[in-house]
Amino acid sequence: MSRFIQASKFRHVYGSTAKRDDCYDNLRISMSAWDTNLVKVNPRFLSVNWNAGGGGAFAIIPLEAIGKMSPNPFLYCGHAAPVLDTDFANFNDYVVASAGEDGKVMVWNIPEEPLEDNVTTPALTLSGHGRKVGQVLFHPTADNVLASSSADLTVRLWDIEKGVEKQQLTGHMEIIQSMDWNWNGSLLVTTCKDKKIRVFDVRANQVVQEGNGHQGIKGSRVVWLGNEDRLATTGFSRTSDRQVCIWDATNLSAPLKQESIDFSSGVLMPYYDADTRMLYLAGKGDGNIRYYEFANDSLRYLAEYKSTDPQRGIAYMPKRSLNVSDCEVARAYKVCRDSIEPVSFIAPRKAEGFQEDIFPPTRSDEPAMTADEFFSGQNADPKLISLESGFVAKTKKNFVSSAPQQEPEEVLNPTNEKEYQEAYHKLRQENENLKNQVSQRDIKIRQLETQLSQYTSQRNSAQNSGTSTPLEAEINGN
Ligand SMILES: *[C@@H]1O[C@H](CO)[C@@H](O)[C@H](O)[C@H]1NC(C)=O
Ligand SMILES: *[C@@H]1O[C@H](CO)[C@@H](O)[C@H](O)[C@H]1NC(C)=O
Ligand SMILES: *[C@@H]1O[C@H](CO)[C@@H](O)[C@H](O)[C@H]1NC(C)=O
Ligand SMILES: *[C@@H]1O[C@H](CO)[C@@H](O)[C@H](O)[C@H]1NC(C)=O
Ligand SMILES: *[C@@H]1O[C@H](CO)[C@@H](O)[C@H](O)[C@H]1NC(C)=O
Repeated sequence: MSRFIQASKFRHVYGSTAKRDDCYDNLRISMSAWDTNLVKVNPRFLSVNWNAGGGGAFAIIPLEAIGKMSPNPFLYCGHAAPVLDTDFANFNDYVVASAGEDGKVMVWNIPEEPLEDNVTTPALTLSGHGRKVGQVLFHPTADNVLASSSADLTVRLWDIEKGVEKQQLTGHMEIIQSMDWNWNGSLLVTTCKDKKIRVFDVRANQVVQEGNGHQGIKGSRVVWLGNEDRLATTGFSRTSDRQVCIWDATNLSAPLKQESIDFSSGVLMPYYDADTRMLYLAGKGDGNIRYYEFANDSLRYLAEYKSTDPQRGIAYMPKRSLNVSDCEVARAYKVCRDSIEPVSFIAPRKAEGFQEDIFPPTRSDEPAMTADEFFSGQNADPKLISLESGFVAKTKKNFVSSAPQQEPEEVLNPTNEKEYQEAYHKLRQENENLKNQVSQRDIKIRQLETQLSQYTSQRNSAQNSGTSTPLEAEINGN
């Protein structure tokens, strides 16, 4: 046994599944093939991608609503196609964002009382993505800043208070597979189906680092390792072994560490707890959850939580809401076929009282700056709180966006001369807008074609200052 393992404070951490009665049962969880964690959790609620016929929906389940869920619960159903991801606001437990196959991002208020009907109108709808939106992620330190990634190959940053798009991150050549903010939210890292890892300076839309990630075709995920310039990625090698890599976010030319885990086929869903420096890896379709300690640019394997129930997705409770008197260092909410099981990770201690060394000050639910401050270029680290005297969740504050309320889509069904005229003008306007959009795209295509031909001719003259290969000669029209 190595000296390190003996020295680790977390060597004896073990996972403990909640009793059957304390699980959430009888859920109709989304069957979408999109790679997502399916569930999110905050100190008051679970949010679950729902398997709803027709449009798209998600369910909000109060944490105390354990046991069997009613067969026809009321849902949040504003999307016209399946919901692919949700995220709770970091600074308001009663606000959740959703992303859907319909290309929309929506922001919702969660009432304190149980729903008495489906909720169909969100507090805010953010349109702009051209294709399905696969992930939403709130900013870690600025209030009301949301990132969304889409199959239109962009990540967009929104000021949800004003209801406006503030930035587009471009440069992905294929579907974006995952993203994460750095500690203070000045940078955002993505993994992409083009097998690249990119670090963006988000306010400049600049790729400040790019490197070759996992070379297998299946899903890759990334998490930022707390307040260090380090990343962890999971993915697959060319020969399909599951890997975890550690990277220097300021130099992605090669991973600092690369480790093969096994040959299973499920995407490894990573979660990093900056307070204990523990990385948890839960494979889709696996029953176990492995955990490691990150130190000196290496991952030291600690142990695994074992279960025969395969997980389809997973979420982790924000640290501020864990049970410190139980020495609970993490709590996972594991999505099984039609249930969600809480799993507590406990660091057993003989000593009584608050264990300061395993519970350092943790992220609070107070923002460190406003959206305006963030978009004007400021940075701020997260505000931290001590858990020694316990954490009390804030009371409900209604989210109100100053964006003009979207009109529900009008059905054109004119009955008299005046209405025909109005409908005609409306359609003409729409037609104009579409023409404009098409011509802007034409311009963009021409720009790209120009860049491409410049690149090709540069490469040709660099490669051979005389003869070209037959294929190149053909391309060049010689
Ligand atoms: C709520 O929405 C779900 C999913 O769209 C639907 O199946 C259900 O009938 C709706 N319930 C009511 C009361 O409208
Ligand atoms: C980046 O790391 C590689 C080794 O992985 C090293 O060869 C290279 O010099 C580093 N680049 C910079 C700019 O430090
Ligand atoms: C990391 O390296 C330093 C210096 O080499 C050593 O003192 C420390 O014990 C190491 N930490 C762990 C957790 O291995
Ligand atoms: C923490 O765990 C202890 C022991 O299991 C329990 O008595 C206590 O109620 C829990 N505290 C909270 C805030 O859940
Ligand atoms: C924010 O993080 C970046 C990248 O780690 C760092 O360069 C910068 O100094 C940080 N800013 C503040 C105010 O913490």
